[in-house]
Amino acid sequence: MSKKVLVTGCAGFIGSRLCEALLDREDEVQGIDCFTDYYPRFFKEHNLETLLSRPGFTFVEGDLNNLDLASLLADRSVLYHLAAQAGVRASWGREFEAYVHHNIRATQRLLETLKERPGIRFVFASSSSVYGLVRQFPTPEDVILGPNSPYGATKATCEHLLSLYAENWGIDGVALRYFTVYGPRQRPDMAFHKFLRAILEDRPLDIYGDGSQSRDCTYVDDIVAATLRAGDTRTRSRVFNVGGGSRRALRDILDVMQEILGRKARIRYLDRERGDVPRTHADITRIREEFGYNPGTSLEEGLLREARWMEGILQEMGSTG
Ligand SMILES: NC(=O)c1ccc[n+]([C@@H]2O[C@H](COP(=O)([O-])OP(=O)(O)OC[C@H]3O[C@@H](n4cnc5c(N)ncnc54)[C@H](O)[C@@H]3O)[C@@H](O)[C@H]2O)c1
Repeated sequence: MSKKVLVTGCAGFIGSRLCEALLDREDEVQGIDCFTDYYPRFFKEHNLETLLSRPGFTFVEGDLNNLDLASLLADRSVLYHLAAQAGVRASWGREFEAYVHHNIRATQRLLETLKERPGIRFVFASSSSVYGLVRQFPTPEDVILGPNSPYGATKATCEHLLSLYAENWGIDGVALRYFTVYGPRQRPDMAFHKFLRAILEDRPLDIYGDGSQSRDCTYVDDIVAATLRAGDTRTRSRVFNVGGGSRRALRDILDVMQEILGRKARIRYLDRERGDVPRTHADITRIREEFGYNPGTSLEEGLLREARWMEGILQEMGSTG
């Protein structure tokens, strides 16, 4: 049966794909986004383009910290909360204020609104960054968290707030810890986007460290499938890893990209960045068991799709010369 749902961060990389998948199954989707200036608005408008003309979709431009959330949630049965200030590297220093505003304050404001509406299912986009420098691999959900960046600390705080509101006010919520998401529309600050673009434009690309750091990479459609399930299913657990089952070193990922594009990368090795972690590797036993989640996209296939999208967007931007 079709549902009325609210998606925050609907102009973003993952949020826009989630909205499309919800509309495909005929849910009525209200999307919210305030177009933060973290990366160019061009990409977000591009992400929204097809959504805006689809029946069943309405868009509200605004910041979750100012909007009338009670009215927006009045007739909704699921809230998918993906809006955030993302990015590990930018989260130090003065920029931290944006992380507090868009992550902690906005999430707390949503939770306060949900207090009065405990029937609404709340799905929160958390991150593998809450684990930081853990030593247990693959990493299960119940290890002690040790975020290694201010960004990770804000996501851990949001998870903690969710758990407080669930315990004290009966909010029906889950946190999904997404592991490095990639695919068409990936954010321009993310490594795969930067690498593909640099190779296509024959510019040097920077690797922080020696490239041996490895990531559990998750194709965006697998993330979306898990997020849909989380909205539909009542679960025993409140926190789930969402990994992709493709754990590779950055160097290997670059090899795959060069092969797909048939071009050589010009790599510059720089010092390791603060906040980066050497390895991520999700234990996905819990989400497999409780949601039947099964990531289906190989790294080769997913990167090929991202590369094709990147070629198209560069052509549109007129920068491939
Ligand atoms: N991309 C990844 O690899 C990854 C990994 C782990 C977790 N996540 C989480 O998944 C979610 C989506 O990530 P993404 O990569 O699509 O990011 P994104 O930056 O592309 O999308 C987030 C969107 O939220 C909007 N937004 C931010 N603050 C807002 C506010 N206060 N009010 C309204 N809109 C606001 C932004 O304008 C942006 O369009 C985020 O919560 C992110 O932290 C992403």
